[in-house]
Amino acid sequence: MDQLSTEELASKLHSNLLPKHVAIIMDGNGRWAESRHLPRIAGHREGIKSVREIVQACSDLGIQALTIYAFSQENWNRPSHEVSALMDLLEYFLAEERTNLIEQGVRFRTIGRLEDLPPSAIQWVRDTEQATAHLDKLHLTVALSYGGRTEIVDAVRKILRDAQERKLQPDEVDEALVQQHLYTQGLPDPDLLIRTSGETRISNFLLWQLAYTELYFTPTLWPDFRHREFFLALLEYQRRERRFGRVLSGTISS
Ligand code: FPP
Repeated sequence: MDQLSTEELASKLHSNLLPKHVAIIMDGNGRWAESRHLPRIAGHREGIKSVREIVQACSDLGIQALTIYAFSQENWNRPSHEVSALMDLLEYFLAEERTNLIEQGVRFRTIGRLEDLPPSAIQWVRDTEQATAHLDKLHLTVALSYGGRTEIVDAVRKILRDAQERKLQPDEVDEALVQQHLYTQGLPDPDLLIRTSGETRISNFLLWQLAYTELYFTPTLWPDFRHREFFLALLEYQRRERRFGRVLSGTISS
């Protein structure tokens, strides 16, 4: 595979075996910048270009949903200048990309505690959500001030509030009900999770939703993760057999 061109890799993809929903932990921006003696924010800026390419690739391939981890709750602990630079970049991304998103049929949404963000960033997010609400070629979900455990806590709170209002019985709580109260309500679970930069952790991302997801870890740093790297991840996904805990017909259990 390593010797093949990006076009040759693309031609090996089977359109009927593509994931419906891809989730990505975009990691390694800081290391990309530091290895070039640049400030960390230069890595985040370059990372935006990868976001743009992967959104385009998903839209072109007909992948239905892409969910990207842009800012975790833990990221608030970074130096304040890096936090505010990341918030500025979010606004810059939305200002630059809104028209492209609309042209590509992308519906933009966010998950996480959006209320933690600065008011101007919240406004950009809300306006973009509104401007793309009628589109559904690709559902792009950006996780902002997101934590997987917090998402489950928020779901439990909503369920308890519902229970107080309409006397929900404990036996009525099942997996489907929990799912309906998650931030990702309405989206299918991811088929493929990609994490860049060589780390092999989930880092509090989509804890509930990743139960049966195929995991793909690559040493490539996020700013270097472009079409070619994405196609390699999709080809690896296509080679895997997804059993969801079952034994597939024709296989011998041992
Ligand atoms: C991890 O790299 C990346 C982030 C914390 C932010 C990801 C953000 C972007 C790609 C740009 C903003 C995206 C949008 C959609 C506006 P790191 O800084 O943890 O890298 P390191 O592990 O090498 O230090």
